[in-house]
Amino acid sequence: MPTLIKNGRIITAEQDYSADIYIERETVTTIGKDLNVQADKTIDASGKYVIPGGIDVHTHMDLPFGGTASSDDFETGTIAAAHGGTTCIVDFAVQSKGTSMRHALDTWLRKSEGKAAVDFGLHMILTELPDDWLPEMDALVKHEGVTSFKMFTAYPGVFMVDDATIFKAMKRTADNGGLICMHAENGGVIDLLVKKMLAEGKTTPNVHALSRPATAEQEATHRVIALSEMAGVPVYVVHVSSHLAMEQIREARGRGLPTYGETCPQYLYLAYEDYADGSFEGAKYICSPPIRERENQEFLWKALKGDDLQAVSTDHCPFCMKEGYKGLPKQKELGKGDFSKIPNGLPGVENRLHLLYEGGVVKRGWSMNRFVQLVSTAPAKLMGLFPRKGTVAVGSDADIVIWDPKRPHTISANSHFMRVDYNPYESMTVSGSPALVLSRGKVVFDGDKFVGKSGDGQFLRRGQYNLV
Ligand code: URP
Ligand code: ZN
Ligand code: ZN
Repeated sequence: MPTLIKNGRIITAEQDYSADIYIERETVTTIGKDLNVQADKTIDASGKYVIPGGIDVHTHMDLPFGGTASSDDFETGTIAAAHGGTTCIVDFAVQSKGTSMRHALDTWLRKSEGKAAVDFGLHMILTELPDDWLPEMDALVKHEGVTSFKMFTAYPGVFMVDDATIFKAMKRTADNGGLICMHAENGGVIDLLVKKMLAEGKTTPNVHALSRPATAEQEATHRVIALSEMAGVPVYVVHVSSHLAMEQIREARGRGLPTYGETCPQYLYLAYEDYADGSFEGAKYICSPPIRERENQEFLWKALKGDDLQAVSTDHCPFCMKEGYKGLPKQKELGKGDFSKIPNGLPGVENRLHLLYEGGVVKRGWSMNRFVQLVSTAPAKLMGLFPRKGTVAVGSDADIVIWDPKRPHTISANSHFMRVDYNPYESMTVSGSPALVLSRGKVVFDGDKFVGKSGDGQFLRRGQYNLV
């Protein structure tokens, strides 16, 4: 069923031109002016941008965490993603203590089976690494398309690994061609601060941020970069929240190291000042690293423009404020009276492109090319998906968003597709949004109507990172 997209303005990370796009089956097969071809479906994209589908390389669907599990699964989460123009996610399988990476991969493949509405890949979170497991890392990279490993310097007793484990994993990854992703906060220091603050009777949600200072993020960011330098491996620092941490990445890149960083919409739009009053509403904004003081935001926006940070993902990890929403159990309320028990994480997968377009292109005058680079092309290259994904080109998957710069969208929990009872950006109106979203050649969203199918999304065996 060939599809023709006519009269659109095609934007890639490098190009901006008007042409028609011909799609056969799942792939873009021709791009040219005034194509004279037979199509079963013709889409008129006059006055609109035709961009590659967004790629969110940091999501947590159905993640067991904080005594519950994130409220979106691969079905609701990928439908929500598609509504906002994201046609590919890379989620995280978790190797928990005493279980193998293979077991973790099988568990996450089962969780996603028949559910995902758009394509997805998986990273592997490592929580321990005995020497005789090292060959499993190579097997994941070589045979399973799981080409990135995430480790944490935070969450002691849950995810945190020590420097020796990090270094060991980094050395192996340097040899097998994978990418290391790091959650960088000093978990030991934070643990002490949390205990001290609780002992002093400081229990409200805002204390979460006070117990996780930006210096703890700066120190761990510096450390993981130093470890990666010694191991000779590229490192991607996830969810950079503060100016201080970002400066570590900028400095390393200035020395020519293959160091990369992402930030997330919550660090660009939300501020500690907005929940400093200690009310339980603040639980909506509990994530780690925490939402920082407002003064950080402009540094992060500038870092995105100037390539000191290379990508924007969401760290989508939603938990409901109230028990019972769509049958879900108690989530954020688990931490009433003790901030350390509030499950960490925020929703965002649906609104990443909305927010980046508004904040970057509309408010700060970025080119559409930079926008596409940050939300699609760089993530694709980092995660070994380019050029299959992350661009509009002959031979690429027809993951395409018809972006209408004149289609305002008001973000609200009343209308969003994410399975969560609040939206951190409630009532914000953005100027542009997707008019149509295609996933491998099939329309999955027509405006605000989901016309795709759960289970149509495929597991992606990714290649090696190739962002230079
Ligand atoms: O608060 C967060 N970020 N929750 C998700 C897990 C993680 O650290 O990425
Ligand atoms: Zn993290
Ligand atoms: Zn995360």
